[in-house]
Amino acid sequence: MKLEGKVALVTGSSQGIGQAIAVRLAAEGANIVIDYRSHPEGAEETLAKVQAAGGKCHMAECPNSQGYVLKADLGVVSDVRRMIDESIAHFGKLDILVNNAGIERHAPFWEVTEADYDAVMNVNLKGVFFATQEMVKHLIETKRTGKIINISSVHEELPFPNFTAYCASKGGMKMLARNLAVELGPLGITINNVAPGAIETPINTKLLNDPEKLGALLKNIPLSRLGQPQDVASLVAFLASSDADYITGSTFFVDGGLLWNYQEQ
Ligand code: BGC
Repeated sequence: MKLEGKVALVTGSSQGIGQAIAVRLAAEGANIVIDYRSHPEGAEETLAKVQAAGGKCHMAECPNSQGYVLKADLGVVSDVRRMIDESIAHFGKLDILVNNAGIERHAPFWEVTEADYDAVMNVNLKGVFFATQEMVKHLIETKRTGKIINISSVHEELPFPNFTAYCASKGGMKMLARNLAVELGPLGITINNVAPGAIETPINTKLLNDPEKLGALLKNIPLSRLGQPQDVASLVAFLASSDADYITGSTFFVDGGLLWNYQEQ
């Protein structure tokens, strides 16, 4: 149990990668704040899984993990601040923040609307910025160290035509982590990015239902399969633990080799 006694907030944990992270951190002993925006039933499912995962530990010195569900729109800064404050109010503190919630919108660059641009940038970058800021203020006030983990994407490096706002948000996340590693290091706060490739989650529903596109994508993945949410969650559990105390400002790719796969035909 690597995270016994810790409190972790996982944004966007009603489904997909966020749900797997919440469950995995609970299995490591952490208490979990589950955040959702539009899927309360998914959040309840995560809660049940969190309780079951925490419940696997039966030893007296190993209390069951607790879960707490809250709703927040990561695109609205006042909501983001309330989310952090409510998490702290519920469990008394926050040790780990996993900025997982993210959205993408498909459109050729010349057709992207201001509303879609704002939606993507607000959730993927502005929300992360201010959630992290509120968390850092709490750590400073309580004179404690902490861990921040951003769920980024291979697209913080790799172009993704028709998803320019998404790529800009993930590129921004890359520099956010690097900058904050320097600024927060003296406070003992670490920040790292986990960058998934193609993972089997609801964000990829369209792709999963398109055999032609899926086949083409699989050809680009050296490990010849899509990733599973658990593939991402296991790395997050490591980065959230004291085993990763000396790691900050880095991006770790979980992509089956997708990012660096270029082959001449
Ligand atoms: C995107 C997916 C995409 C994957 C690989 C992820 O960041 O959310 O839609 O399939 O990258 O390109």
